[in-house]
Amino acid sequence: MTASDENPRVPEVAIDEMFTDRWSPRGFDDQPLSDEQIRQLFEAARWAPSCFNEQPWRFFYAVSEADRKAYLSALVPRNQLWAKRAPLLLFVLARRAFGQSGRENRHAPFDAGAAWLCLAFQARKMGLYAHAMAGFNQRRAYAVLGVSETEFHIMAAVAVGHKGSADHLPEEMQAIEQPNTRRPLSDLVFEGSVPGEDEVDVLS
Ligand SMILES: Cc1cc2nc3c(=O)[nH]c(=O)nc-3n(C[C@H](O)[C@H](O)[C@H](O)COP(=O)(O)O)c2cc1C
Repeated sequence: MTASDENPRVPEVAIDEMFTDRWSPRGFDDQPLSDEQIRQLFEAARWAPSCFNEQPWRFFYAVSEADRKAYLSALVPRNQLWAKRAPLLLFVLARRAFGQSGRENRHAPFDAGAAWLCLAFQARKMGLYAHAMAGFNQRRAYAVLGVSETEFHIMAAVAVGHKGSADHLPEEMQAIEQPNTRRPLSDLVFEGSVPGEDEVDVLS
């Protein structure tokens, strides 16, 4: 497989370009998104699959200056540095329990992950980029969003917008402002079960 001019990623096997085309830049343009664009992003996420179709994800988002400032205050400084330019900031939450039974939903983080990725792929279809962040202060995020920690996990923050110049970023961030690569398939995928102990340790 060869890489395109715009995207240096080379898949091992032919796949749809949408998978290698999604990546997480830090250089955002501050061009605002329309209400329609924002709805489209969340609509894509709404169609994600989930255990028992529970749809345990919740999204809180910020576009106004005041809301973005509050959301940014929950991010670690290293993420604030670049995320402050993104016109849309959001948090992805997962509801801890099933609505009907009240039992713990241990699949909720998995489902919320599927939903965020639908949003990220929809963003690329719209010429936008989404960059997820685990680097935020949990306590501050609960306070900013006003949600109950007993009821929700806050899984990640996400910055969304048009890609812009990376010139304003620190040099070390500029140096990594490009699509990265992946481990080989052979490190990640196994047929059957784990071989004998003296063979490959797949978990290392
Ligand atoms: C749950 C999650 C948390 C992440 N946290 C951060 C973060 O705090 N700061 C950051 O700059 N990037 C963060 N990233 C981006 C990852 O570093 C990035 O997705 C990974 O290197 C793969 O690169 P790609 O998204 O460009 O394909 C996070 C991604 C995910 C999915």
